[in-house]
Amino acid sequence: MIISVINQKGGVGKTTTAINLSVSLAQWGHPTLLIDLDPQGNATSGVGLTTTLHPSLYETLVSSNGDSPQDTLHPAVAPGPVPNLSVVGASAELAGSEVELAENTRRDDVRRVLHALSPQYPLIVIDTPPSLSLITVNALVAADQLIIPVQCEYYALEGLGSLLRTLERIKRSLNPQLRVMGLVRTMYDARLGLSSQVSEELEKHFPQLLFRTVVPRNVRLAEAPSFGQPIAVYDRRSPGADAYRRLALEVINRIDSPTKSTSASAKSQ
Ligand SMILES: Nc1ncnc2c1ncn2[C@@H]1O[C@H](COP(=O)(O)OP(=O)(O)OP(=O)(O)O)[C@@H](O)[C@H]1O
Ligand SMILES: [Mg+2]
Repeated sequence: MIISVINQKGGVGKTTTAINLSVSLAQWGHPTLLIDLDPQGNATSGVGLTTTLHPSLYETLVSSNGDSPQDTLHPAVAPGPVPNLSVVGASAELAGSEVELAENTRRDDVRRVLHALSPQYPLIVIDTPPSLSLITVNALVAADQLIIPVQCEYYALEGLGSLLRTLERIKRSLNPQLRVMGLVRTMYDARLGLSSQVSEELEKHFPQLLFRTVVPRNVRLAEAPSFGQPIAVYDRRSPGADAYRRLALEVINRIDSPTKSTSASAKSQ
């Protein structure tokens, strides 16, 4: 099961979700591979790994010329900060080589790499950049399921509509298997009327798709990456850690009963 965490909007909690969901899945006993497909490398440093790990999957993409994929199908896999978690890091120095990437990379390169890895890793979680670049398209083509973090603020809803329409196009043209597993509300602040208003709107429009777990705005979640630690290591008793543990349980449930996942089309209401 390959899950991409996606939203073209920046700063909505993709990386925080990819890291802490992966860690929680691992802690619930599911061997999990976290893949940092964002050249910013935030997921890599967020679990305490260096972004000079070679070869990263991103580097694999840049160096692949399309006709010798077998030679490049060996991204480095490092142990994560908790048992059951492995990580494929990003190399920060390659940020900005999107042009090079566009010339050499196919839309299904990541899918081919991951299918080679998937017998070892039943659960793969991919962190993606805040764009709909070729890297992100690769993450969409490789994925079975998508998790979309939505920040509880006004413009979140606007961006969501266009994201869902884009996903529908990708599904039709490139990956008919693609499903949206769910939307997760992030940075929810109970003191702000706007947060609960947006949250209610989401409940109204996406009752099936929305995860019940709401990730609160929690300073411990914001601090943890600067220590290179997931929240479960940095402060396992914090509300943020608790939220991601519960989110992981919901994800496990949805994997077990796939009918709850909705095709990208069904939710473009
Ligand atoms: N629930 C939360 N409570 C408090 N801070 C949070 C929470 N979730 C994320 N943050 C902080 O908000 C910022 C943006 O989060 P994050 O990096 O996860 O978003 P992103 O969608 O991956 O961003 P980008 O689009 O740049 O990749 C980070 O500084 C992160 O530590
Ligand atoms: Mg990020």
